[in-house]
Amino acid sequence: MFRNLSGHTNDPIEALFVRLAEDTDANKIDLGIGVFRDATGKVPVMRAVREAEHRLFEQDLPKSYMSPLGNAEYCADIEALALGADHRVIKDGRIVSAQTPGAGSALRAGAELVQTLSPQSVVWVSDPVWGHQLEFFEKAGLTLRTYRYYDQLNSVLDFAGMVEDLQSMQADDLLLLHGCCHNPTGQDLDLAQWRTIADLVVARQAIPFVDIAYQGFGAGIEEDVQGLRLFADTVPQMLLTVSSSKSFGIYRERAGLLSVIVPEDARDIGSVRRSLRDTVRQLYFMAPNHGAAIVHEILSSPDLETLWRQELGEIREHVDNMRTALRTTIERLNPGFDAAFLEQQNGMFSCLPISADEQLLLEREFHIYMLPHARVNVAAMNAAQSATLGEAFAYVRAQRAAEPHQASA
Ligand SMILES: Cc1ncc(COP(=O)(O)O)c(C=O)c1O
Repeated sequence: MFRNLSGHTNDPIEALFVRLAEDTDANKIDLGIGVFRDATGKVPVMRAVREAEHRLFEQDLPKSYMSPLGNAEYCADIEALALGADHRVIKDGRIVSAQTPGAGSALRAGAELVQTLSPQSVVWVSDPVWGHQLEFFEKAGLTLRTYRYYDQLNSVLDFAGMVEDLQSMQADDLLLLHGCCHNPTGQDLDLAQWRTIADLVVARQAIPFVDIAYQGFGAGIEEDVQGLRLFADTVPQMLLTVSSSKSFGIYRERAGLLSVIVPEDARDIGSVRRSLRDTVRQLYFMAPNHGAAIVHEILSSPDLETLWRQELGEIREHVDNMRTALRTTIERLNPGFDAAFLEQQNGMFSCLPISADEQLLLEREFHIYMLPHARVNVAAMNAAQSATLGEAFAYVRAQRAAEPHQASA
């Protein structure tokens, strides 16, 4: 089986990590992987998380198996955090959920569930999109189509293009949307645009699949889910994934949510729950519990929840400061260039308006590493690195002015 295996290459994301690891420059800058780093470059553990772990340890909890649907208390907490505890979808019992090993697994399981129930459904994904998302749906055997979303060279949302493309959705097609802090662009819809898309989804009888991985990184914990809540108020049925990796800083503990919101006239929600359970069991059997238990401990302890909200607020402030710093440096070094998009966009990421070749130039000349589409993790930068990136951007633009063909590469 394995003797003749050869030629299996790295995808662009893995290839970048290899180049980064091979670079021996002491000042190399890693703006690739989606983690928050503090000013010293560390990925900190939140104080609320550490305290929750201590409390869990003292409770001497069992380690027996849970259901394939995972930690039910975590599911209820995250449903409430995302939708609002009083949302009628929750009150009316129209939501079934599984706690998954992170939102990555939730996306994969959601794709598998759809493939089982409706293999002809086409999945509509934004252009550009977080590359791994494509894999989850392709691997499940579903057909993908892209919709226009972001014009990278001009750093603007292509909303007209998006609406035009989505007119072609058919009944039961899936529309994949990022609930906030779009990965990779940081470019979100405003509430009026969410409304337009919700109406379009209803008209086309499509099913939204909303993926939320950065709640609290954009405008605020409540503010970041306004589009999602509008959708839950408007559309009859929906899939939802929520990641706790970034919002709680528990990346490797693997806690996420996969929910199905069923229509009011759904005949048998028990069958939906069993179908979800069987899907996750067949894929990975069961999720780990530690991360979910931490999140539940925080969200069920008023003092820890207050601390967590405060810490997440501090992270958000750092991200905002880095966005402002980068914009300021870029505009100072590139007179006439408008970098306002950096402050208008949300969350960890923005895409610089440079080509793939120019991105490689940044790696070679400045040892700055970012993911495809020149996706910069602004939440991983400190002030000095943001200054270096601003200088590097100015250098690329100067090179482009000298050799104009570079820009379209
Ligand atoms: C949009 C989006 N969805 C889902 C995920 C997966 O998160 P995790 O599997 O760590 O919960 C990520 C991670 O970067 C993401 O950016």
